This record gives sequence, structure tokens and C-alpha cells, in this order.
Amino acid sequence: MRKGNGCNSVVLAFGGPCMGRDPVLPKGWNEPSHDQLRFKSDFPRVLGQHQRCPMNDPENVRGTGSGLVAVVTGASRGLGAGLAKAFADTGLRLGLCARTVPAAPDGADAVTASVDVTDARALDRFADEVVERFGRVDLWVNNAGVLGPIGPLVDADPGALRRHIDINVTGVLLGCRAFARVVRAQSGGGVLVNISSGAATKIYEGWAAYCASKAAVDMMTAVVATEERTHGLRAYALAPGVVDTDMQAQIRATPAASFPSVARFIKLDEEQAFNSPGRVASFILDLVEGRREVSDGVRIRVPDQPHHG
Ligand SMILES: NC(=O)c1ccc[n+]([C@@H]2O[C@H](COP(=O)([O-])OP(=O)(O)OC[C@H]3O[C@@H](n4cnc5c(N)ncnc54)[C@H](OP(=O)(O)O)[C@@H]3O)[C@@H](O)[C@H]2O)c1
Repeated sequence: MRKGNGCNSVVLAFGGPCMGRDPVLPKGWNEPSHDQLRFKSDFPRVLGQHQRCPMNDPENVRGTGSGLVAVVTGASRGLGAGLAKAFADTGLRLGLCARTVPAAPDGADAVTASVDVTDARALDRFADEVVERFGRVDLWVNNAGVLGPIGPLVDADPGALRRHIDINVTGVLLGCRAFARVVRAQSGGGVLVNISSGAATKIYEGWAAYCASKAAVDMMTAVVATEERTHGLRAYALAPGVVDTDMQAQIRATPAASFPSVARFIKLDEEQAFNSPGRVASFILDLVEGRREVSDGVRIRVPDQPHHG
């Protein structure tokens, strides 16, 4: 263990529920599309009863995110690194992990570690270290994920398929498990956000593994939300929209023969029609602090950022 890079960070060496109404969107945000509304409503009603927990009590909200403790997996780059920075900017204390040790955002109070999410013991040790340092975890974001193998399933390497499912499905199951154990041992509950994708419900040729793994993420989230509700855990499967990361660069670089929808993603890049990580972070904090109401189900999509394309 060593103190980190000028920030108040430690690097580790191991590898409201709310009822009844549609989400209230801040001024300037797009209304959810028909698809997005359907996306919410075709899942079980698992958030039917309001539970009181510190994060849902207005008197305990100390400014946006201030003082809360958040874990983000896959925080070494891309969306995870962006979430970490935005959370730090709003005063959250952080536990950040990926296989590459994430850099703590400037000035952040953070525990950072090299953790492969497919390693249950490493994840549990990481959770323990965060609790040891900060006393609790209020928000856990299972963000780590991969896209490939890309291409027709008939051509896919079996080992690559297994590895994909290990990271995107088993890794998220293990993250849910680690957080549920933390929440059961603390008072006040906690919020679980599993990063899903529109690919959980939309067919993309060339993404058999990715579509399957994100659909699995949605379903496991619904089960965990139901199992852990009485322990004060709220869970969401969040599709972040299109965020400009290495994963998007990988998509745009794929030949149409392997991924027929590639032109759509190239156009989004030309129009810079992306959701920023800051927008996704602010959406998550609204969920955590009860400012965004989810009428039913656990699946939710960050509305597209307005752009001038
Ligand atoms: N970008 C988008 O438009 C978009 C849209 C919908 C959903 N998503 C989802 O958002 C999440 C983040 O995607 P991204 O675009 O930011 O991807 P990215 O730029 O490729 O970053 C992926 C992150 O996951 C980590 N990771 C990968 N395998 C890991 C493992 N076995 N153990 C621990 N960490 C691991 C990577 O770090 P290391 O390599 O250092 O481990 C990295 O920090 C993913 O779940 C993705 O499916 C993204």
C-alpha cells in the first residue's frame, strides 16, 4: 500500500425508491423516447415501497454528493474515469479500481486498486479496504466492461466469448455480491448502479456476446433489487447513452462486415452527439439522492444530451 500522487489517496497492492411518477427531467433535457419509457416499464415492479434511508432524507443531503462514499469499477479510463472525476468534483469520497490502477482525480479522497472484477476475493478485499478507510459505501457503480469479440457469432473464438461473459456477467454479479454484503453490514442502505446498454434490448449484428451480457446485467439487477430491498439496497441498470471512450473508438474502427451498424456510430462521432460522463454522473447522483423518481422497474436510460448536429 502506498500514498498516492499528491491527492489524498491510497493505492492498494492487491489485484428513493420512489413511487408512482415518471422521472422528472431537468430543464433542457430531452423527454425520454417511447423506447426509453418501454425500457422501464416491461420489468418487474421492484421499487414499489418507499424505504427510509439516510440518502433519501432531505435533512441528510449535504449538497450534491457531499461526503458520500462511491465505488466505481473500471475507473482507469473512459466512462469510469469520467464518473470518478465528476463524483470527486461534487465532494464524494471514492473507491476506484480496474486492472490498471486508476489515477485518483485531483484533490480526491480516494482508495485506488488493481482489481480484476472476475476475481471474487480481490473484489471483496477491495470492498473491505474502502469500508476500512471511509466507514461505509453509499453508492457502488459496476462499470467495468468489454465489448468484444465483435463479428458474427459463427466466427467467434470460444475462449474470447467465455472471457467476455466472465467480465461482463460474472464480474458484475461479483460486484453486486460484494456491495450487497457491505450494505447488509451497515445502516442506512446503499445504491447499486450497474452500467448496462441499449444493446440489452436492441439487436446489433456482430454484438452477440455484448447484447447477451448487457441483457444479463439488466436481469441480475432486477433480482438483486428484489432480494436486497429489505436491507435498504436500491438497484438500477443504467444505460448511459453513447459516451465517447476507447470503446466507441473500437466500434468506429470495426469493418461493416463485422458490425453492420458501424455507420451510425461514425455519424454520432461526426455530430459529436455524445453523453458526457459528467451528465451520466449527475444522473446517478440524482438517483442516489432521491431527486429523480423512477416509477417502476430497475432499468433506466440517461436521456441523450441535446446537441447541434
Ligand atoms: N462508451 C459507451 O458509449 C457505452 C455505452 C453503453 C454502455 N457502456 C458501458 O460503460 C462501461 C464503460 O465503458 P467505456 O466505454 O468507458 O469502456 P472503456 O473505455 O473500454 O473502459 C473500460 C473500463 O473497464 C475496465 N475493465 C475492463 N475489464 C476489466 C476487468 N476484467 N476488471 C476490471 N476492470 C476492467 C478497464 O480498465 P482495465 O483495462 O485497466 O482493467 C476500463 O477502465 C462498460 O460497461 C460499457 O459496456 C459504454
